[in-house]
Amino acid sequence: MTSSARTLASTLLEWYRRARRDLPWRGTTDPYRIWVSEVMLQQTRVAVVVPRYEAFLECYPTVEALAAADVEDLLSSWAGLGYYRRARMLSDAARRIVREHGGRFPRSHGRIRDLPGIGDYTAAAVASIAFDQPIPALDGNALRVLARLADERRPVRAGPGHAAVRELAESLMAAVPKGCRGDFTQALIELGATLCTPGAPRCGACPWQASCAALSAGSVESVPCRPARSAPKRLRICAGLAVAGQDILLRQRPADSGIMPGFWELPQALGGRADLRETGLALPCGGGPLATFRHAITDSIFTVRVYEARPGASSDRACEWVNLAGAKELPLSTITTKALARCAMFVRGAKPRDGRRQS
Ligand code: ADE
Repeated sequence: MTSSARTLASTLLEWYRRARRDLPWRGTTDPYRIWVSEVMLQQTRVAVVVPRYEAFLECYPTVEALAAADVEDLLSSWAGLGYYRRARMLSDAARRIVREHGGRFPRSHGRIRDLPGIGDYTAAAVASIAFDQPIPALDGNALRVLARLADERRPVRAGPGHAAVRELAESLMAAVPKGCRGDFTQALIELGATLCTPGAPRCGACPWQASCAALSAGSVESVPCRPARSAPKRLRICAGLAVAGQDILLRQRPADSGIMPGFWELPQALGGRADLRETGLALPCGGGPLATFRHAITDSIFTVRVYEARPGASSDRACEWVNLAGAKELPLSTITTKALARCAMFVRGAKPRDGRRQS
């Protein structure tokens, strides 16, 4: 990096004012609206978020409206926007803002960060965009842009590489004039999203090309580097498929579960067939799995086996019979969606039973 922080900041701001996309959360400094946009953008693409953001704000135009919303209604309006846990957290945080802050969004980074579900990045984005505070918000886009600007060869998600990039971000933000801190936050994100992309970056159009250390070193494509991955854990899961007529036995994960709270799944256990008995299911003697498949998540690979099962005397109390057609409307875990697709021939075609939950 050769230019001064002030020159870099003003070049970026000038580019942003010329090149920015016209996105619906960019015309406001309402902290509530900015918070909602950031939560949605954390896991969903901009093109998907735009219409959903506007519809969400029509339903819940203020933090008070969100705090008063029925959580089940809120969860339904969140479908397709990623983890339902985030929607629950939105509701929890809105209620806290109403209860503890009289409905006014807290202004300081620390107080925003204290709200449920709000991490360092979201707090910094709201503080800078809504309240013009000089706090850099480092999402994946901003980290990549800054790592390249400084040709930082260490991983930047955490550790010393992250600390170095944060220091650079702070020095740049300190050079941004008052009234422009929110634009600076959005400009870094915009540069990462539109030009300084992970693959095929368009360096020829970049406002920072003359100062980019990775560009002059020829390392743009390899920075930021990926941290070495440890070998994935290999685990086994057994799931029980109990069928009665057109109903299947499902259970709902607890609302406070750290993983997929509120999602529905086949009763299941880590381990082999014998471990499935801990769910209280009865297993017919012998019999191989109805289906076997792999399911990979970030750091684990599961081998999933699905066995025929019957409800036992002590079946998990969270289990319910659910009509198969209705089950498809429920938020199902991915493992259960895969299991049902592979076991379709075992659950199709029989007659429905009376007196059971028809979702
Ligand atoms: N991703 C995260 N925050 C964003 C923002 N404010 N604009 C566009 N993309 C984003």
